[in-house]
Amino acid sequence: MDTNKNNKDHPLHRLINRKETRSVKWDGIQSLFGVEEAIPLWVADMDFTAPEPVLRAVREVVDHGILGYATPSNSFQQSIADWMQKRHGWNVSPEWLVYTPGIVPALNMAVEAFTEPGDHIIIQPPVYGPFHKLASNHGRELVLNPLLYDQLHYKMDLAHLEQVAQHEKAKLLVLCSPHNPVGRVWSQEELQGVMEIAVKHNLIVISDEIHADLVFKSGLHTPYAMISEEAKMHSMICTAASKTFNIAGLHTSNVVIASDELRQKFKKVLDKNALSSMNIFGIAATEAAYREGEPWLTDTLEYIYDNMVYVADYIQTNLPELKVVIPESTYLLWIDFRELQMPHKELYQFLLHKAGLVFSSGTDFGEHGEGFMRMNVACPKSLLEEAMHKLKEALQAR
Ligand SMILES: Cc1ncc(COP(=O)(O)O)c(C=O)c1O
Repeated sequence: MDTNKNNKDHPLHRLINRKETRSVKWDGIQSLFGVEEAIPLWVADMDFTAPEPVLRAVREVVDHGILGYATPSNSFQQSIADWMQKRHGWNVSPEWLVYTPGIVPALNMAVEAFTEPGDHIIIQPPVYGPFHKLASNHGRELVLNPLLYDQLHYKMDLAHLEQVAQHEKAKLLVLCSPHNPVGRVWSQEELQGVMEIAVKHNLIVISDEIHADLVFKSGLHTPYAMISEEAKMHSMICTAASKTFNIAGLHTSNVVIASDELRQKFKKVLDKNALSSMNIFGIAATEAAYREGEPWLTDTLEYIYDNMVYVADYIQTNLPELKVVIPESTYLLWIDFRELQMPHKELYQFLLHKAGLVFSSGTDFGEHGEGFMRMNVACPKSLLEEAMHKLKEALQAR
């Protein structure tokens, strides 16, 4: 790839038409939001092509021509372990890996595997929408430990976590690390605090680390399992190449369970649901991404970072009543619209119909997201420039 991202011919600047390509982000807006023409800044996928080595690996599968049932090779498993070691300094033994057709299915299966009906599942809103359904999907009880927000930063409320963890029914804590939508990369101290509470009260920690490779400052993220031996043996870590390399449509993810006992319990649920079989393209793409995709990731993260700075600066200069929470990871900006004092639903409809912008509604992340919108900036900058002008015009005409 041409590494000069300021060059307008750089591939990341290229606006690729995704209409009528089966894209939920672009083609789904009509059925989901009832609009024909709007700029989609919602669901978390990127408007960038996947790394060339990944596309090559997928083409090789197509060219072979047989798309039968697939099985992971040793080389595939080793590519995951090698990536975790190189990127995060994390020693993952290939036998700890279990493959699932996505992280959300893995989270749901973890609830079935590690808890009983009526048990408490703790989450920390505002947080990724499907976390909110993990209890009701399985007859468990959802317990909230809301993040603390000081108008600029979010942090965990460890004192309240300790309170809710004490309940005899409290069994599972689902961490989002890094945290979608607020973009926090939890510090080692914070994770240490979580671990101490989890160990004291016998909680299993499910750490969803799907955004772990999208951290702007390298070395900032610590896999929860690295915090201590106890953390490693009482947790399940959810990882995938899907967000990192923009291959979410292949539905392939890897969860890491170091404890034999927990891994066997999890695999039983996977087998019960007949989900042990893997996507043949997902195996090929994941291995190519982990082995050869890092230069693409470096370029893409730099590009995303510049986009984020552009949007944050534009808003600060032109729309100072909005506040942007600057993420340490993810390509998602969490924007506080509360100063506009518009009821949330009205605000969403205004942004959709008057500005022509599709954001993820803050309330998709729980009631603590009221007055906020999540904005995906993983797209060519020209699209963001258009979006910002539309936002400014609509707000000025209000
Ligand atoms: C925290 C988090 N977990 C899981 C997912 C989706 O995972 P999957 O598509 O593998 O089910 C997302 C997607 O945005 C996410 O942000």
